[in-house]
Amino acid sequence: MLKEIQNKAEKAIVEAKTLKELNRVFKDFLGKKGELSLVLRGLKNLSSEEKAKQGKESNELKESLSIKFKEREDEISLGDQSSKEKGIDVTIPGKKPLMGHLSPLTQVKRQIMDIFGGMGFEVVDGPEIEKEWYNFDALNIPKNHPARDAWDTFWLKGEEPLLLRTHTSPSQIRYMEKHEPPLRIISPGKGFRHEATDASHEMQFYQVEGLMIGEGVSAANFKAVVKQFFEKFFKQSINVRFTPDFFPFTEPSFEVAMSCLICDGKGCPACKNTGWIEIGGAGMVHPNVLKACELDSSKWQGWAFGFGIDRLAMMKYKINDIRLFHSGDLRFLNQF
Ligand code: FA5
Repeated sequence: MLKEIQNKAEKAIVEAKTLKELNRVFKDFLGKKGELSLVLRGLKNLSSEEKAKQGKESNELKESLSIKFKEREDEISLGDQSSKEKGIDVTIPGKKPLMGHLSPLTQVKRQIMDIFGGMGFEVVDGPEIEKEWYNFDALNIPKNHPARDAWDTFWLKGEEPLLLRTHTSPSQIRYMEKHEPPLRIISPGKGFRHEATDASHEMQFYQVEGLMIGEGVSAANFKAVVKQFFEKFFKQSINVRFTPDFFPFTEPSFEVAMSCLICDGKGCPACKNTGWIEIGGAGMVHPNVLKACELDSSKWQGWAFGFGIDRLAMMKYKINDIRLFHSGDLRFLNQF
């Protein structure tokens, strides 16, 4: 008989869909007049031997059914809750999707293109994997010349010597090969050098090359264009310094530096405590470079420059370590 009660009760418990139904099942079996309660109450009429046996079994059943009731009760209440969740609560504010945005380097590159574009410069592109001719020879840096040591080069394996361009200057050559002066271009892109990194040096960095060739184009023109560019880019007046430098592809050559905006010229890791930050190199295009592009160096002359885009971005946003750009750190990137 107990077995029968157990089967019936267990089936009814599982089949109960609501707490109300479950209560009714509870009453039917464990309530005052429930089937199992009646059995328990009838024990007193049994012989002591039978009383002991049935009593034990009935109490065990009561206990196991009570557990099953509790479990089913939890299931039903949880189900109730999740069905509430399934309903749409229009008052809950929506979740904002995480939006990506342009990296500070891309933003700066676009600003540079805009400013030079406004001054009539065409924007041209060049390959990152370059031939030795464009990266070195045509730029008046012959094989075995010690000047090549200034650019620690990543060479690629293969029959023809190819390399990762060490600067954007090959773009000048590629353009002059195909275009007659007068010409005005900039060419932003990546450069690669096998050198130790520090707060202002990366193995991979961005440069913007500039080139202006015409009749009677002078260093004074360069100074005016650079000053104009800096003031538009930084939206303030900037101290610019030109000092003599050496590049095989320009003569004379100069280093272009600006006073460090991170420390206001007082000295910090980004400017190596000098108060000045080197932005790039420049100079009057060497006649040998014009000759390599089959241009008449007695007729045409002009200037070229190569500025570090990372350095310009560091100055603009007061970033004191170039390595942050590629750190992938969202706390850094989300500020731009
Ligand atoms: C050059 O690369 C020359 N091609 C520039 C040039 C072009 C001179 C045209 C004359 C005429 P330099 O090695 O100094 O020069 O690099 C120019 C700028 O690129 C540096 O001032 C710096 O701003 C940036 N740069 C160079 N190496 C790195 C580096 N490892 N990490 C970050 N920026 C760099």
